[in-house]
Amino acid sequence: MIITIDGPAGAGKSTVARLLALTLSEQSEKIYEYLDTGSMYRTIALLGLRRNVDWNTPRQLEKLAENTAITVNNGKTLLNSEDVTELVRSPEVTDKTHFAADNPAIRLIMVALQRSIAKQFLECGKGLVTEGRDQGTAVFPDAPVKFFLTATPEERAKRRLGELQQNGKQGNFNEILQRITERDLRDASRSVGPMKEPTNAIIVVSDGMTIEDVVNQLAQKCKQFQVKP
Ligand code: DC
Repeated sequence: MIITIDGPAGAGKSTVARLLALTLSEQSEKIYEYLDTGSMYRTIALLGLRRNVDWNTPRQLEKLAENTAITVNNGKTLLNSEDVTELVRSPEVTDKTHFAADNPAIRLIMVALQRSIAKQFLECGKGLVTEGRDQGTAVFPDAPVKFFLTATPEERAKRRLGELQQNGKQGNFNEILQRITERDLRDASRSVGPMKEPTNAIIVVSDGMTIEDVVNQLAQKCKQFQVKP
């Protein structure tokens, strides 16, 4: 059973996907894994930074993607066998990730990898909650339950600012809001795998909801859609 969660940056997809997988695992005898597909594109960008690629020569990044083993499991992202889970969240990597995500050849490789990871989980009797921008549209269009998790740009900027402040960092609401709006536009307008609501998706707007509320709502929907043990 594959459950997809797509939606814009900052909507809480990663946390929700992880907790939904945990909740479904607790509610049934089946183990649900979760997959953070953004981390794959981020890993290619990290590699590009390390190898000092010319970002204006897409073939250089493509070659790296062709010759790299990325593994994503249990919330960890491995580049060859190095754990890069934290490293790929850095602002430098975030800034360059669009070079990987906008590249059609790299998307083909990542989509094949995502399908092969899903196949392995399903073959050993597990379920999968996978999140990204194109999971319910391009990668797993036949998934029985598809969510589009979103929140207004203002709400997402407010949350981001709160996270920064909690970590003792400064932030400017208007700058954060502008970055979020730019990323939304970029994610929605790429020629391959753009972010959009999948057909038959359940749309959840999480403004004013806690993570727990969102996870409970999604778990409830999964039950209605007969996500069986
Ligand atoms: O979800 P995230 O912020 O970690 O994603 C990083 C970037 O990768 C973001 O700009 C969107 C892109 N992405 C994508 O194009 N397709 C996916 N399935 C996941 C992420």
